[in-house]
Formats: sequence, C-alpha cells, structure tokens
Amino acid sequence: MTRPAGGPVAVLGLGTMGAGLAGRLLDQGVQVRVWNRTADRTAPLAKAGAYTAAHPADAVAGTSAALCVVADGEALGAVLHGPDGVLSAGPYPGVLICASTVGPDEVAQIAGNGPTVLDVGMLGNRDHARDGELRLFVGGEEQAFRSVRPLLETLGKDVVHLGALGSGMRMKLLLNLLMGIEVQALAEAAELATACGLDRQLVLKTIAGSGFASPVMAFKSRRLASGRFEEPDFRLRLMAKDLMLASKQAAAVGLSLPLATAAAETHVRATEQGLGDQDCAAVTRALIPKSGTDT
Ligand SMILES: NC(=O)c1ccc[n+]([C@@H]2O[C@H](COP(=O)([O-])OP(=O)(O)OC[C@H]3O[C@@H](n4cnc5c(N)ncnc54)[C@H](OP(=O)(O)O)[C@@H]3O)[C@@H](O)[C@H]2O)c1
Repeated sequence: MTRPAGGPVAVLGLGTMGAGLAGRLLDQGVQVRVWNRTADRTAPLAKAGAYTAAHPADAVAGTSAALCVVADGEALGAVLHGPDGVLSAGPYPGVLICASTVGPDEVAQIAGNGPTVLDVGMLGNRDHARDGELRLFVGGEEQAFRSVRPLLETLGKDVVHLGALGSGMRMKLLLNLLMGIEVQALAEAAELATACGLDRQLVLKTIAGSGFASPVMAFKSRRLASGRFEEPDFRLRLMAKDLMLASKQAAAVGLSLPLATAAAETHVRATEQGLGDQDCAAVTRALIPKSGTDT
C-alpha cells in the first residue's frame, strides 16, 4: 500500500544539490528527514529544523517520498541496499525519487521498476536547488508522478513528465553531454589563447560577452579566468561519469558521437590526474602539456 503524498520527506545525500533541495523544502514548511554518509554535513540542516537520521532506513521512516541525491550508481546502490539501506526492511511504501544522475537502465536495476519509483533529471545548480528554480525531467508511472507533483513543483519552476522510468536520465544525460562539450571547448579556446601569447583574461571576457556565450559559458569563463576550481558547483568526476554514461547510451542505440567520446576521454583523464573533486571547469588543467625532460 502506497503512503499518501504530502507527509514528511526524506533527503538522502547532502552534497551540493541535496543540501540545497533539503533547505528549500524546509523553507517551504515541509518536514524533512535527512541523512548523509559524512555525518557533519547534516549540521546546517539540523539547525534549520531537519530531523537527522542515523541511517537511510531511519531517514525514510514515516515519509511519503524519499529523494536520493547521491553521486552515482554505486552510491545509490549503497543507500538503497546497503546495511540499514532504504530497502533493507522491504519495499519502501512512499514514492522513491532517484535524482542522482545514473544510466537510464541503472535506475530500474538499482531501485527496481516498481510503480512508485521515479527518476528525476535535475537541470540547474546549487542556487537553483536552494531557490526552487530547477528544471526537473521525470520518468516513471503517471500515478506516482501525479502524487509527488506538488513536491516536485516546490523544487522546480519547470516539472516535465517525459514517460517511462529512465526517461528523466535520458534527458539529463544529453543535457550534460552539451555542457561537458561546451565547457571543454571553452577551456580549449582559453589554453590556445594563452599558448599563443594572447591575454587570457581578455579572451575569456570577450567570449563571455560574445554571441558564442551561454549563461553557463559566461559563468565558467569566470572560473577559468580566476583559475579557482575549489568549492565545485559541479565536480569534474561527476561530469566524467555523465559523459561516459552519455557515450554508453549513444553506443546502445547504435550511434557513434565523436565529440561525446573525446570529451568523455578528456574528463576521465582529468579525473585520473587528481582533478575529480574540483569544479568541472578544471578540465582546462588536463589540456596543458606536462613540462619535463621527456623526449
Ligand atoms: N551539482 C550539480 O550542479 C548537479 C546538477 C544536476 C544533477 N547533479 C547530479 O546530482 C547528484 C549529486 O550531485 P552533487 O553535485 O550534489 O554531488 P556532490 O556534491 O559530490 O555530493 C555527492 C553526495 O553523494 C554522497 N555519496 C557519494 N558516494 C556515496 C556512497 N558510496 N554512499 C553514500 N553516499 C555517497 C556524498 O556523501 P559524502 O558527503 O559522505 O561524501 C554526497 O552526499 C549526482 O548524480 C550529480 O550528477 C548535480
């Protein structure tokens, strides 16, 4: 029996996005139960009125919806099936909303393809999450979608039900394919400018103010100009994951996408070089040739 929507909501994973979503719900008067693997990260939300759970099963107790906002498929599996996981004591009676970006088929493999599982691709950053300004793309059954639609509308200014489970991820992956390629292209232009002896700051300012810029490109131009990649808006390792997933998705439908493949390779290499926990604009550092005495 499914619990009626409108009760307390669990938020599992309080990274860049999860913390913003939980804060938004608290602001809107929703009762929120939070859990995070690294317990310290719950403190600001506890201060704002959230119940801090000891483990995922505790977080979802008595809730009508659970939002999973952890990093990737492995993390989602751990939160759902690990010790004291959401599904450790049997099926979850509310609506399970997988907002982690994972492969479209992974959602059903990890969360099960029951009628109350939804996948939600989130378009936007931490500020959008905090302010209810995300764009949300949802996959899963209509009835489950309807039951949490008011909740999703609290979190997003645009909430679109695309179809079957996995559809939200399909949309999210192609959007991040665009972003990953765009940011890499911007970084390549910046490195070429620097290597040719042009003024890097001037070039980035010119691009940001040009017809080639999008809001994301203008925002990332500022990151590239400052060379400050700490406190990531979007971790480079997560961009590598999404580009790999998008390339895999393309291959599964018989497409070979050269830019997607190249961008995925660059981001995986950048992660291997230790840049994974920096902002994705740090991909620029993987483009600079290593100085040394190799011949
Ligand atoms: N940032 C964005 O702009 C953005 C936008 C749309 C979608 N997304 C997607 O949303 C998801 C979360 O992104 P984010 O930017 O919030 O990531 P993040 O800041 O890196 O946070 C990752 C979260 O996952 C948790 N986690 C990682 N591995 C885990 C494991 N094995 N078991 C349990 N928890 C684990 C982390 O816990 P700890 O605190 O213990 O490390 C943290 O709560 C990702 O799938 C990402 O692709 C992000």
